[in-house]
Amino acid sequence: MQETRIALRFVGQYDTACVNEYCALGGYSGLRKALAMDKNAIIQEVNASGLRGCGGAGFPVGRKWEMVAAAEGGNKFVVCNADEGEPATNKDRVIMAGDPHSLIEGMAIAGYVVGASKGYIYLRYEYPYIFPVLENAIRDARAAGFLGDHIFGSDFSFDISVVSGGGAYVCGEETALLESIEGKRGEPRFKPPYPGTSGLYGCPTLINNVESLVTIPPIVLNGGAWYESFGLGEHHGTKIFTLSGNLVNRGVFEFPRGTNLRQLIYEVGGGCPGGRQLQGVQTGGASGNIINANMIDIPLDIDDCSAAGATFGAGDIMVFDDSKDVLEIVENLMEFFSHESCGKCTPCREGNTRLLQLIRKIRNGEGTLADLDTLEDLSETMMDCSLCGLGQASPSPVVSTLRNFRNDYLSKIEGGLK
Ligand SMILES: Cc1cc2nc3c(=O)[nH]c(=O)nc-3n(C[C@H](O)[C@H](O)[C@H](O)COP(=O)(O)O)c2cc1C
Ligand code: SF4
Repeated sequence: MQETRIALRFVGQYDTACVNEYCALGGYSGLRKALAMDKNAIIQEVNASGLRGCGGAGFPVGRKWEMVAAAEGGNKFVVCNADEGEPATNKDRVIMAGDPHSLIEGMAIAGYVVGASKGYIYLRYEYPYIFPVLENAIRDARAAGFLGDHIFGSDFSFDISVVSGGGAYVCGEETALLESIEGKRGEPRFKPPYPGTSGLYGCPTLINNVESLVTIPPIVLNGGAWYESFGLGEHHGTKIFTLSGNLVNRGVFEFPRGTNLRQLIYEVGGGCPGGRQLQGVQTGGASGNIINANMIDIPLDIDDCSAAGATFGAGDIMVFDDSKDVLEIVENLMEFFSHESCGKCTPCREGNTRLLQLIRKIRNGEGTLADLDTLEDLSETMMDCSLCGLGQASPSPVVSTLRNFRNDYLSKIEGGLK
């Protein structure tokens, strides 16, 4: 299967230490064009593209830009979420290491449209080697006049700083990220107000993922309809997928939205190595649903995944073969969430630990059928009552495996079905 590279178009195509090479590929011509355009016309093109946020929640990018552009406030900010703490996601680091200038260009266009003069890239703490790549690219862009005062001789001035992440998964949540930039402990805020009206230092703030932002320059250059047309059928544009786990070919690949999950697993991933059978797939990251091998005929996009009982998230696809213990996978995931819960709210702080204890009890052969009901009840409470997306989504591996791998639980429970 041939990739359709739009977000990944320039990765590996130029020397990141040479801004002229980026310009030779057409780099910064999207920014030049944008600065000559009406801001609303750019928003219309982004809306027409159908681009949805690539960080996990899938909020339409154009609508978010519209809201921040309309928000009242003297200072506004653009923040790039480059925290990429999701264990099965590696796409943003590939973009930033291989094509930092597209991110700078996308942020500058965003700044022009929403009326911001300052941007921050919140870079995952565990990506220290990307820090100098971004810093050098920003310095070179500034020296070439693509950042700084009066860009391309216009009234628009914009600059970017890189901020190191806090080293915690929750810091990828947009309001925890803002707290962290402000030098506070990275804990989510109550919403509303949303960052679009009251974000960094209380000012209107646009927060977008790396992949969302690098997709902007080609949309400005070629138009929203051009980008939209790459999606299969009713789907819009493309998405980067991270393939990991028991696959022959793993890595980061970009395909049209609506590409079938089965095709991706077998035609791109090459299926499970060593002739093993596919047992299941976790889609959408650590807090995504785990589906079984019979459920993989799904067009990959946000709504189709949720209708099929899967999760789209940031496009993560973690495959496991028939040698793996499903409950061991769930235990690992719940260990991760117990560790990463920031502790600010009770359902998540206590709930993740309790889910972990119950999974361990069942794995040790000490579980009861009543424990399965407790797992379900507790998960429902966490999903309904947790303050942020971490606690709202972290029970998904438990809930989905209770549904799709129930016999794996029952076979470990005394008195259950064998
Ligand atoms: C626990 C948690 C972790 C998150 N981590 C990330 C992340 O690492 N990167 C990211 O872009 N979005 C992450 N998000 C989503 C952000 O809150 C936000 O929706 C996103 O940055 C918006 O950008 P987008 O609209 O371009 O997707 C996370 C959300 C939650 C609840
Ligand atoms: S849901 Fe979890 S991570 Fe989010 S605020 Fe509550 S305790 Fe913190």
